[in-house]
Amino acid sequence: MQNNIFSGLFVGQNLLTLKEVDSTNNFLKTLLSNSKPVPEGTVIMAESQFAGRGQQNNQWHAEPGKNLTFSVLLKPSFLAVTDQFDLTRAISLAVYDTLCPILGNQLKIKWPNDIYYGDKKLGGMLIENLLQGAVIKSAIIGIGININQENFPEGATNATSVKQILQKDYDIRDILADICNHIEAYYLALKAGKIDFVRNGYLSRLYWFNQRKRFRAGGEIFEGTITGVKQNGLLVVNKGGEETTYNLKEIEFLNKE
Ligand code: BTN
Repeated sequence: MQNNIFSGLFVGQNLLTLKEVDSTNNFLKTLLSNSKPVPEGTVIMAESQFAGRGQQNNQWHAEPGKNLTFSVLLKPSFLAVTDQFDLTRAISLAVYDTLCPILGNQLKIKWPNDIYYGDKKLGGMLIENLLQGAVIKSAIIGIGININQENFPEGATNATSVKQILQKDYDIRDILADICNHIEAYYLALKAGKIDFVRNGYLSRLYWFNQRKRFRAGGEIFEGTITGVKQNGLLVVNKGGEETTYNLKEIEFLNKE
């Protein structure tokens, strides 16, 4: 009998691997709209996505068969809509804690939910919540991580992969299983009300936290310091002694220039 590397109780126990799909998030959404109930923790993984979606209506490109592209179904009905960013925190931590033993502490979570190594993007997530009144009925957690891809298109100068960093191939399924196990642990911590553990953990791994850096917001370039993330997920930046909060569309991190 093959060992089940998914050691949790539910995340990854129902795993469907597809050769090709438009987007694993879309696939899961369609599955949910059919009448048959889909168990919590279901994972849809694809070897190749031909219309992978990223944040802010961007596309997500990944070389077929070399990277992790998958979606997880969670049903966090215990979470108020106003606290939905806690789910983003928990999932970011799960991905981080899986990759940190492999890559070391140059790994960071870039607000709101990118995974960075140094100043390069290793992965990201697209979390789509289906709300019912004031609670989250189900959450489709789409995760993309660059694993064994060696080269990126010319435009993607900011992208990196585990292979580019370590010059070594990794087993995609092993990493998937590890992420699923960590997701389950952080999700159960959230469910048990360990909010401070999740919020503090997120801040302690945050890219540029408490460092003076350059940003662009409202047409202006300025130096400021990230001092926190609000309960609702807005970024708090201190600029000249004054704190301002931003959503994703409102602020840009300026790495170079
Ligand atoms: C981002 O950083 O912009 C988010 C990227 C999320 C990509 C993943 S790949 C699996 C899932 N399916 C999608 O279409 N998108 C997410």
